[in-house]
Amino acid sequence: MQKKEIKLEFEEFENETELTPEDRNLLIKALESAARSYAPYSEFHVGAAVLLENGEVICGSNQENAAYPSGLCAERVALFYANSQYPGVAVKAMAITAKADHFVMARPITPCGSCRQVIAETENRQQSKIKLIMQGESGPVHVMDGIKNLLPFTFYEKQLQKTKK
Ligand code: THU
Repeated sequence: MQKKEIKLEFEEFENETELTPEDRNLLIKALESAARSYAPYSEFHVGAAVLLENGEVICGSNQENAAYPSGLCAERVALFYANSQYPGVAVKAMAITAKADHFVMARPITPCGSCRQVIAETENRQQSKIKLIMQGESGPVHVMDGIKNLLPFTFYEKQLQKTKK
């Protein structure tokens, strides 16, 4: 038996003023998008903004439903919309932020497991990493170079490819 370790890396910035103008702008877009969420059940508003390599910014917010599992997270709303509008155009970066009605979200939000899987699929499809920029409604910002830092041991579609005879 061998014990092995995985190293995860991220950058922590004290607040958004330390970011590059591009990353800061994407966070602002995510925050604006959070305000357009439909979250009457959780009262937790998540916004995501995706920067594409063609310069377009696609925003998404969480969209809930009285049948709870029918709702969708902000990250997947943004990524699915981006790929349906611009198939084949790579995603360079995604900013994610959240604002709660009943408490102050002062630490960075991180995507849920299903969204991590969708981010991983996007990276795999485009063969390049997505920069992830995460913040609460205020406070520190976490920046990661790719989903591997949030989802090691990723399940990839390659494992499903059928070999032709
Ligand atoms: N939510 C997101 O939109 N993104 C996340 O990364 C975490 C959770 C949404 C789903 C639901 O509408 C609400 O936040 C509470 O879980």
